[in-house]
Amino acid sequence: MEYKVLNSIFKALKAPFAILDMNALDENIQEIAKRSKGRNIRIATKSIRCRYVLNYLLENLPNYFGWMTFTIEEAIWLSENGFTNILLGYPTFELELIEQVLSNEKHVSSIYFMVDKLEHVELLNEIAIKYNAHAKLCIDVDMSSTFPGIYFGVYRSSIKNTADLKSLIQSSSSFANVKWKGLMGYEAQIAGIGDNVPGTAVMNKIIGVLKSKSIKEIAERRAACLKVLSDNSINLDFVNGGGTGSIESTLKEEGVTEITVGSGFYQSHLFDNYSNFKHKPALFYALRIVRKPTDSIFTASGGGYIASGATDISKQPQPFLPRGMKLIKNEGAGEVQTPFEYLGKEPLKIGDLVFFRHAKAGELCERFNKLILVRANKIEQIVPTYRGENKCFL
Ligand SMILES: Cc1ncc(COP(=O)(O)O)c(C=O)c1O
Repeated sequence: MEYKVLNSIFKALKAPFAILDMNALDENIQEIAKRSKGRNIRIATKSIRCRYVLNYLLENLPNYFGWMTFTIEEAIWLSENGFTNILLGYPTFELELIEQVLSNEKHVSSIYFMVDKLEHVELLNEIAIKYNAHAKLCIDVDMSSTFPGIYFGVYRSSIKNTADLKSLIQSSSSFANVKWKGLMGYEAQIAGIGDNVPGTAVMNKIIGVLKSKSIKEIAERRAACLKVLSDNSINLDFVNGGGTGSIESTLKEEGVTEITVGSGFYQSHLFDNYSNFKHKPALFYALRIVRKPTDSIFTASGGGYIASGATDISKQPQPFLPRGMKLIKNEGAGEVQTPFEYLGKEPLKIGDLVFFRHAKAGELCERFNKLILVRANKIEQIVPTYRGENKCFL
């Protein structure tokens, strides 16, 4: 979208506010469908956090296959609202909420629980017995790689290899009220790390080499885990892998029946620097300029929406439009004011809007009650985010 157009469409609205460019979203949906070559896509709701958009993806993504939710409370809420095939992406130990699921037939049939420890399985079995239900389980297998001096991945699952997997299955064999239904492995070091970051050619090369070594290794690990399951006569509903950044490599593993994708729909800026894809920035937010401390520095009201994770510079918001804005190193995006340097061509003045992007896709929705949907330079609709529906899950 063009800066002038955006500033003129939105100038009268109360800032700050969040905008979803539906034309860009449509292009990203098409691109993700093309990249995934028809393999099932499970949508990561944490990277969307807006029920309207979830339904829009369901209707418009041809290979949509289900949801990966981030808390059990969210999974229940979505199930109550007609969503089905919900994989709770992370383990839970919230007894009351587990009871809510296992005492309700609709939730039991819609929701898969994530486990990687005997404690998880034991608890689910115990509560399932109480309600005469069968909890559907998905096993999370660790997909990180270790190279000399480098841990390449994230710390999540305790199941690191086939021996760990066999041990969990064997020690759970007396639990009659749980059923093994899925296997998930999230290769964060492939899906969540860019290998084409401007100005870091050497690091890009190193990341590229580590990625290709790791891709080979995790494919073997996942295939070996699947063999353990089939040797134990366990038939799965799905085998899940990947994320936005790894569609191409995850797809090569024939055993993987579905790929999780979330961030690539809104295309938050951490996903700009990959060699295997380019999506369109779809979600951004508007701040209003309220001061001009020097000829080249403006100050906007609000805007300090820093992303979670190791807090380096990449977690800051990124100036988007007009082109040529730069955050000030010593101040960054501030709690109530965001100063920026501007040496571009627009005749910016106090009262104008400027636009920024968040580093992570879903987190921006925790800052706004509404998303303003824009299509072909017109406001199409205003829809509530999770927060706008009074839902704050984490
Ligand atoms: C378990 C799991 N799968 C997949 C993903 C990928 O999601 P996205 O496409 O939003 O990066 C994530 C993201 O953190 C995740 O935690």
